[in-house]
Formats: sequence, C-alpha cells, structure tokens
Amino acid sequence: MTMFAAKFRIVVGAFALLALAVSTRPASAQQPNSVNPQASVVKEQQLLQQLKTIEGRGTIPDTKSYTIEQPAGRDWRHFHEVTLRWIGAIIVLGILAVLILFYLWRGMVRIPGGRSGRTIVRFNAFERFVHWMTATCFIILAISGLNVTFGKPLLLPLMSPEAFTAWSQWAKYAHDYLNFPFTLGVIMIFLIWIAGNIPNHVDVEWFKRGGGIVGHDHPPAYRFNAGQKTIYWIVVLGGTAVAISGYVLMFPFYGTDIHTMQSAEIAHGIVAMLLVAAMLGHIYIGTIGMEGAFEAMGTGTVDLNWAKEHHRLWLDEEMARTGPNESQRQPALRPAE
Ligand code: HEM
Repeated sequence: MTMFAAKFRIVVGAFALLALAVSTRPASAQQPNSVNPQASVVKEQQLLQQLKTIEGRGTIPDTKSYTIEQPAGRDWRHFHEVTLRWIGAIIVLGILAVLILFYLWRGMVRIPGGRSGRTIVRFNAFERFVHWMTATCFIILAISGLNVTFGKPLLLPLMSPEAFTAWSQWAKYAHDYLNFPFTLGVIMIFLIWIAGNIPNHVDVEWFKRGGGIVGHDHPPAYRFNAGQKTIYWIVVLGGTAVAISGYVLMFPFYGTDIHTMQSAEIAHGIVAMLLVAAMLGHIYIGTIGMEGAFEAMGTGTVDLNWAKEHHRLWLDEEMARTGPNESQRQPALRPAE
C-alpha cells in the first residue's frame, strides 16, 4: 500500500510539473497564430500580418488618424526610402554621365562662319524675366526637393543633426513658397511661347538631320527648333504634372484619400527626377554645349550668323517683317582684347 501511495505521488507530481511547464511557455508558443494586441512592438510585424491594418480609437474628429498602420503604408515607405532613391540616382547621374561623354566627343558646337559682329533681338525683357524667374525657382525647388529624397543618406552623415535640421527646415520653407512663382512662370511660359512651339513639318526634317548638334549639319528652323519645342513641352506638361501633384501634397486630404496622397508623392518624385534630367540637358546646350546660345537669354540678342545657322526661317521672317536695316542691329562692336 505504501509502495502504491509512493508511486501515485510520483505520477501526480510528474503531471503537476508537466502542467506547470506547459502553463509557463510563452503565449505565442501556446497559440502560434494568435495575437496579443497589448504586446510590445516586437510583435508589431505579427500583428500587421494578422490584422492587415492596425487601428485604434481616438477623440479628435480626424478619423483617418485612428489608422496607425496599413500595408500600403509600408509599400509607400519602401518607395520613398529605396525605390525613388534608385530611380533618382540612375536618372540624374545617368544624364550627367551622358552629357560629360557627349561634351568630350562633340565639344562646343561653334558658329561655323564665326561671329558677324551684328546682333538681332531674340528675347525681350519680359520674356527673359519670365524665363529667369521660373528657372531660379526651379533650381531652388529641385535642390530643396532632392533634399527630401537624398538629404538623410547623403548630407546627414556630413553635418551635425542640428545643422541638417536647420538646413532642411529652410529648404522645406523654400519648397513650400517658391512653388507659387514657379507655377506662375510655367503658365506664363505656356502663354508667351505657345505660338512658336506648335509642331510642324520642319521639325521632322530637323530631327532627321540630327538638329545640328549630333551631326554637323544646320537644318532650318523657325523661332524655335524641334529640340527647343521638346524642352518647351517638357516644361509645360512636366511643370503642370509636378505642380498638380505638389499641391495635392501641400494640401493633404482636401478631397483626397490616403491612396491619392501616396500616388501623388510617387508621381511628384518621378516627374521631378525626369524634369531635373531634362533641365540639365537644357542648361548644357544653353551654356558649354553651343557657342552664342547663352546670350539669347543673357542680353536678349544673338549674333546674326548664329541666327542664320540655327534659325534661318525665323531670321528670314524677321528680315521680311522689319527690313534688314531694322533687324540687323548695329554691331555690338567691342574692341578685340
Ligand atoms: C508647383 C510646384 C511644386 C509644389 C507645389 C511642390 C510641392 C511639394 C511637396 C508638398 C512635397 C513634399 C515635401 C515633404 O514631404 O516634406 C514635395 C516633394 C518633392 N518635390 Fe516638389 N513641389 C513643386 C515643384 C517641384 C519641382 C519643380 C521639383 C524638382 C524639379 C520638385 C521636386 C521634389 C522632390 C524631389 C520631392 C521629394 C519627393 C520624395 O522624396 O518623396 N518639386 N514637393
């Protein structure tokens, strides 16, 4: 009997130990698929997988704020922190590499007959004002926008967190206010130059002959050649796209939901990178790429030989309109240095 009682005690003890062991195993091990919403952030991933969306309760009227996490938010964050950085780096560094190689191969496109010393008005003061206002705003918007995308990985390691915060804050102010004159500039550019930028048959020929920059030919063109028309439409359409998506971002949730906001940021980021690339190409041709081009927007006049080479049909029209004595202004003669 005593033996039996001893064995009984051992069996009961073993069961008791087993029950204790089972009851002290972690909650997740007991029920591998269940979720404890009170658990620490370590369980956040599991919670998200199970519930897809993490929502809470709130007291403020903005019910959107009750959603703390949603799967699309992670996709968007990945786009913002990884995909857009790759897209931007490839587009911007790619175009810079192409331009450097092109310059090494082609050099500056010269005026074949040299300068005549006589000039003709190409852009009046108002046109130049609109151009430079839009260009200045664009450059500041591009730098401040690129800081949103690349500032943290590229600049933060080079400066103190306080300096990076101060710089980013000013950049953000610039981005939030200079978009207004930029948008006005895009509208003005559309209106003042639309007449000369409607595509026509001359443009086809211009492209076929490499536009005088790829080849050494100088196909005829009216006031704007096919290359300039391309830039014009990139600015008008790209500027409109970046402005619309930008205003959606600036005024969040006014008639938009979270998905529209995320799409707007994706569209804004990609169009912005493409615009930066197009403008780098534009700046290249307007400066070191082509002799005599910068002065068109600098002083507003171009050399007659430059006009003859690049915009023969426009020069003919101007001559017919004003007569050779009027349009061929007196030489901007300066003594040779
Ligand atoms: C009307 C014109 C524009 C408006 C209203 C606008 C507005 C905005 C807003 C509100 C943001 C979000 C900033 C943030 O998250 O703190 C943004 C981001 C950005 N903007 Fe603009 N912007 C405009 C034009 C431009 C232009 C012309 C460029 C460059 C060419 C540009 C490049 C960028 C870039 C790269 C970002 C960061 C995108 C990202 O990393 O997600 N923006 N913009």
